[in-house]
Amino acid sequence: MSTSPLHDLDQKVSELLAAISEIDSLDALREAEPGTIGKRSILSTLQKSLGALAPEDRSDAGARLQSARRDVENAFEARREELASVARLHSLEQDRLELGDVVVDNVRFPATTGHPGIIAVTQSQLEDVFVAMGFTVSEGPEVESDWYNFEALNMPPAHPARGMWDTFYVDLGDPETVVLRTHTSPTQIHLMEEAVRSESLPLHAVMPGRCFRRDAPDSRHLATFHQIEGLVVDRGIGFSDLAGVIETFTRSYFGPDITSRLRPAFFPFTEPSAEFEITCTICKGSGCRTCSQTGWIELGGCGVVDPAVLHAVGIDADEWGGFAFGFGIDRCAQMRHQIADMRALIENDVRFLEQFS
Ligand code: DAH
Repeated sequence: MSTSPLHDLDQKVSELLAAISEIDSLDALREAEPGTIGKRSILSTLQKSLGALAPEDRSDAGARLQSARRDVENAFEARREELASVARLHSLEQDRLELGDVVVDNVRFPATTGHPGIIAVTQSQLEDVFVAMGFTVSEGPEVESDWYNFEALNMPPAHPARGMWDTFYVDLGDPETVVLRTHTSPTQIHLMEEAVRSESLPLHAVMPGRCFRRDAPDSRHLATFHQIEGLVVDRGIGFSDLAGVIETFTRSYFGPDITSRLRPAFFPFTEPSAEFEITCTICKGSGCRTCSQTGWIELGGCGVVDPAVLHAVGIDADEWGGFAFGFGIDRCAQMRHQIADMRALIENDVRFLEQFS
């Protein structure tokens, strides 16, 4: 009796499995597959040899061979997955961005994680001071209609006071009807409208945000800058309440040796109006170049809300009164950190930015 063609099948299968596990690339695996399970493979040759077996042995042998073939096919599949996942890791590794030090003009800038800029930090410190005094914080849109930026603030079309703000117009709707807000005062209007709608007066709020003016940048002005607006609408409010808030704020934010003063001024939305000034933080009031030898630095404007403004949003000026103020966040940062030239705020020189990390 001749030996069965399958007598060393187990041995052959384990050799095939070992060989498959040694294959080390997807290409090599693809090439090895036809020779192992294809038409000319050992398994197919064995398959053909089954014809020589006695019929009663054939089905058993066929089943053994079938199961051997399945094992080999599974081994191919498993190896394919392994190699594909190795290839994926490899390509991820290759695509990895090198976020290390940056070298510009032979100067090495060490890789660092970012941090909030000086304006964002200043804004949140200012908010903290006012929140501690009982104010809430709100924001308004940067693109405004003429009505919010001017008209509701007691400046009808062609009012000469509009010239106080060099305005950027947005090309939307009728000419000169949509503006980049020139100050944060229009947010007062949004807030009062909302308070009227929701019947939630009184109102004690500050409103920080970005503003825009067609100004040529210089050491004390930028075309894009930031203000924080304040508004109180309540019963029995007077100018002395305003003066008290300004002084409390000044000492809390700038320190006990800095004080404030109010000087008569004109703004269409407040009556009376004032400019508020603080002791020059550079010379502490003795006079220097920054304060033009006056000892004082102007920070912003303020006043008692004009009844015409309350009227524009439907608040009864006989029952309610209010005061408002608005000043530059950038100017506060400049004064507190003695930044000689405001343009440093937008130049993105890392040597400047890193001082505030
Ligand atoms: N909006 C004014 C400006 O940007 C500043 C200002 C003045 C705001 C008086 C006020 C105010 O709320 O009452 O020049």
